[in-house]
Amino acid sequence: MPNQMKAAVIEAYKQPMPTLKQVPIPPLRPNDVLVRVVAASINPIDIKTKDGGLRPLLPYKLPLIMGSDFAGIVTAVGAQVHATDIGDAVYGRLQKDRIGTFAEFIAVDQGDIAPKPANLSFEEAASIPLVGLTSYQALHDIMHLRPGQKVLIQGGTGGIGSLAIQIAKHLGASVATTTTTDHFALARTLGADELIDYRTTDFSTVLHDYDAVLDTRGGKTLIDAFKIIRPGGHVVSIAGRPTARFGRAYGVPLWKRLAFGFVTRDVTKRARATHAHYTFLFMQPSGPQLDHLRELIEADVLKPVIDRIVPFDQIQDALAYAQAGHATGKIILKMTDADAVQP
Ligand SMILES: NC(=O)c1ccc[n+]([C@@H]2O[C@H](COP(=O)([O-])OP(=O)(O)OC[C@H]3O[C@@H](n4cnc5c(N)ncnc54)[C@H](OP(=O)(O)O)[C@@H]3O)[C@@H](O)[C@H]2O)c1
Repeated sequence: MPNQMKAAVIEAYKQPMPTLKQVPIPPLRPNDVLVRVVAASINPIDIKTKDGGLRPLLPYKLPLIMGSDFAGIVTAVGAQVHATDIGDAVYGRLQKDRIGTFAEFIAVDQGDIAPKPANLSFEEAASIPLVGLTSYQALHDIMHLRPGQKVLIQGGTGGIGSLAIQIAKHLGASVATTTTTDHFALARTLGADELIDYRTTDFSTVLHDYDAVLDTRGGKTLIDAFKIIRPGGHVVSIAGRPTARFGRAYGVPLWKRLAFGFVTRDVTKRARATHAHYTFLFMQPSGPQLDHLRELIEADVLKPVIDRIVPFDQIQDALAYAQAGHATGKIILKMTDADAVQP
């Protein structure tokens, strides 16, 4: 067993790109498994973290290994691990204070992983954890979407949107989504009922009385969500700014909560005026929910949408492409062939 591994490391915030370096393989805690990462997905949070934009919520110490979700093979287990064994294929989303999946190995708590869906490749499986959990927590846990309800999902052919549409359809909702005309065919395949080209049409002029909105854009797009929500409906943003209520639950100090409340006053005012519920969501890792997503994937209810698979050595190109913000589905980094892994 080697004690060093290759990893994508940022040494300073706003560093243009991470560098690939040799670093120590992370040590195992009693509840951890060590995973040989076969593939990891790129998420906008990686770019925001690298650029320092999330420091109020995630004050990481540098140097930092990037990357949040993965699929791979277990190569060692901690003393208190019972349900997972060496050689198991797993996927997961790391806790926010333990990120680092852009690496050959990761140590992850057994509660944050689930078996890899049997009908997916490792590259496909790596596309699911962060966007799958976020979408499920927004649409199921917060909105409680029910059959017959109407939901707007912004950015329907991006990483979040491409999975969120499928989950909303599974919950029985009717789905409107924004994308560009070039991607209408894909959005229809995913199940979207109403398609809006965000470049030519203002969604708030054509949609009315929606039960729920999943906002993936923030800013004016989030403000406009309150023009289409019905009284009692739910607006959930994953891209707006954190609210004071979120800050309290997240445990930030009072001064930060006050600052959060100040910068989100316009959104909370509109929520009050329209009698709608508003939630800023910061997704949580969850092995049990990932296992539920595995069941839905194995039952062919959910299918991953992959934009491209990029070799780990070309991570800088992959991050630059992600940063442009027009991926169709997910961008995947491939660390190794699964066949080459010797547990
Ligand atoms: N809070 C959380 O826990 C959490 C979790 C996950 C993600 N997020 C956030 O959610 C956002 C979306 O994430 P993602 O993974 O879906 O990103 P992404 O895959 O990079 O999104 C790209 C998609 O956005 C679409 N798009 C670009 N401009 C648009 C606009 N003005 N209106 C509607 N769609 C537009 C693009 O469509 P075209 O190619 O057709 O232009 C593309 O399909 C990010 O800000 C991310 O940080 C937050």
